[in-house]
Amino acid sequence: MEYKIAVLPGDGIGPEIIAEAVKVLDAVANRFGHRFLYRYGLIGGSAMREGMDPYPDETHRICTEADAILFGAIGDPLYDKNPDAKVRPEQGLLAMRKKLGLYANLRPVKMYPELLDLSPLKEERIQGADLLVVRELTGGLYFGEPRELRNNGTLAVDTCLYSVEEIERIAHVAFKMARLRRKKVTLVDKANVLETSRLWRRVVTAMAPDYPDIELDYLFVDNAAMQLITNPKRFDVMLTENLFGDILSDEASVISGSIGLLPSASIGDRVPLFEPIHGSYPEGAGKNIANPLATILSAAMLLRTAFGLAAEADAIENAVETTIRRNILTADLKPVNPATTSETGDFVAANL
Ligand code: IPM
Ligand code: MG
Repeated sequence: MEYKIAVLPGDGIGPEIIAEAVKVLDAVANRFGHRFLYRYGLIGGSAMREGMDPYPDETHRICTEADAILFGAIGDPLYDKNPDAKVRPEQGLLAMRKKLGLYANLRPVKMYPELLDLSPLKEERIQGADLLVVRELTGGLYFGEPRELRNNGTLAVDTCLYSVEEIERIAHVAFKMARLRRKKVTLVDKANVLETSRLWRRVVTAMAPDYPDIELDYLFVDNAAMQLITNPKRFDVMLTENLFGDILSDEASVISGSIGLLPSASIGDRVPLFEPIHGSYPEGAGKNIANPLATILSAAMLLRTAFGLAAEADAIENAVETTIRRNILTADLKPVNPATTSETGDFVAANL
């Protein structure tokens, strides 16, 4: 079979980790007799340095013409130091999510037994933890209007907005994902304070009778942040709004030992996107030291979710497990005598 993949390396370590994921996809193509046709696009700082928009029209076209998108990372310290910058690389990622209607972000978190002692969390707490963060991705504070500076820059406004429809469509995703797992959804919100959170509770509670096989419970986000590291096994599917999901998914990565291990899928009505949850790690760019496994695992999610290639996705995930078991680990997981980015990718590709 022939599949079209839009490849957006982005900034920082993006190009290096994407190169390893493409290496692994090529090995899958070889072994299983597929053809993956890659078209590359610029996004974020890499586009801005060419004088373009952070999400250029050309890149949008490449994305809409593809069957799936593989994305690396976004962010450039040049702009982080300048809060007055009018355009920022991150706007490229946000514009892409919005324009492609990618409202559901799935972030699976699992632990690898070999890495147990690398987590700062106690072994008995995280052993067997396995959860899925279902993060709303195109609403809330990230996109609400107005968002502006007022009074000569002495007052700033962001707006948190959610409609019933936005909540329902992501909640359906969460309930359906729970059906494939341990059949529990935890809605994480701040309903004791926020009006938007109370709407989430009402809407999700009203949907529960349509999913009688799924257990639904609720946590305030502050409590959820604590339980995520004290009792992560209580979570199966964690459903939450955009900003809470951003924060809690980084926190959840501590369970697996490194944020360099967590993949994600963003789905909506059009072409789906797959990306590691970590950022562009600019200090590590060009040094061949970054962990490519989150991106390689994102490629596995791409094959399974976008193309229905389950055996191929399993093969990648098994090869990643072998890589970890054989202690082929980058510096985030193995500070002494680490493997390089490309050695790690080579090992995964060779073990498919
Ligand atoms: C993520 C990232 C992005 C987000 C940034 C880069 C805009 O942190 O995908 O989690 O906040 O959504
Ligand atoms: Mg984030």
